[in-house]
Amino acid sequence: MEQLRFDGRVAVVTGAGGGLGKAYALLLGARGAKVVVNDLGGARDGVGKSNFADAVVKEIKDKGGIAVADYNNVVEGEKIIKTAIDNFGRIDILINNAGILRDKSFTKMSDQDWDLIHLVHLKGAFKTTHAAWEYFRKQKYGRVIMTSSNAGIFGNFGQANYSAAKLGLVGLANTLAIEGAKYNIKVNTIAPTAASRLTEDILPPEMFEAMKPELVAPVVVYMTHESFPETGAIIDSTLGFATKTHFVRGYGAPLRSKPSDPVTLESVQQHWSKAVNMKDAVHVDKMADVTLDLVEKLQEFQERAKLDGDRESYWSKY
Ligand code: NAI
Repeated sequence: MEQLRFDGRVAVVTGAGGGLGKAYALLLGARGAKVVVNDLGGARDGVGKSNFADAVVKEIKDKGGIAVADYNNVVEGEKIIKTAIDNFGRIDILINNAGILRDKSFTKMSDQDWDLIHLVHLKGAFKTTHAAWEYFRKQKYGRVIMTSSNAGIFGNFGQANYSAAKLGLVGLANTLAIEGAKYNIKVNTIAPTAASRLTEDILPPEMFEAMKPELVAPVVVYMTHESFPETGAIIDSTLGFATKTHFVRGYGAPLRSKPSDPVTLESVQQHWSKAVNMKDAVHVDKMADVTLDLVEKLQEFQERAKLDGDRESYWSKY
């Protein structure tokens, strides 16, 4: 099988001084990409600064690859993209991976715990992607990864700040996938699980040993390849396994028996189980499809209501 290569491509990986980002940077470097290894080098809660990125750059170079370190904070993402342009003249791939944790139960969560998590994860991804976007549009090529988390998609005790920011990244990716489509910019989301300093006190020791970032890296790096077919996808990966997560929307139901009836609290209660029945739920790609679906169903509701005595067959659909 032919090797998937990244020759001529320039990749920025944020938070690549350790953990998952390091594994992504090493793999991209080994497959011919020129890599900007960004890492602020702070502690797991975001405090402090150091040069983690240097060791990763050295490792890429020792294996014959090309890389440069960048110590900027993702909140100043434009500086990270400038590092790519100044050193390599272009930017093709951006993996928004930098992250911190400030877990607290909701009652104990301070404004600072909330703001810092949003700054690093959400604003950081916004700033870095925004700076890269103009280059992607001009060259009609770009590959962007947002890093979400199952904690964001499904919720997790003690992670209200992190969950909100991580699901925010899914929203950002969904819209950018739509805006980027005509410029061949693909924007996808990874929800990874791997051993790192963020999970060392959460995962049981045997699992921690097995969950190597190197098992997730080929999935994420494949998602940045020119051949990757999807955009707007959420990919969940761990332990050499990958699957897709997506939201589905139910068929729904009118909340009154005919268009001339009022919608009341009681009519909502009466029709509720039909409204939230998920038996015929479908995946929706974009908001315009929701609007179209709603218009079609309301038209159908009105037409059906015009047919005398046909209410039975109308409701039989639900
Ligand atoms: P990690 O702590 O090893 O890596 C995160 C890196 O980001 C660190 O090297 C850190 O110095 C850097 N960083 C933090 N704030 C930064 C900033 N403002 N600017 C630049 N760099 C900054 O942790 P891990 O596990 O590799 O996390 C990578 C990403 O994956 C994070 O976004 C995390 O939330 C996400 N994630 C990880 C999971 C896991 O199981 N390890 C689960 C779900 C999501």
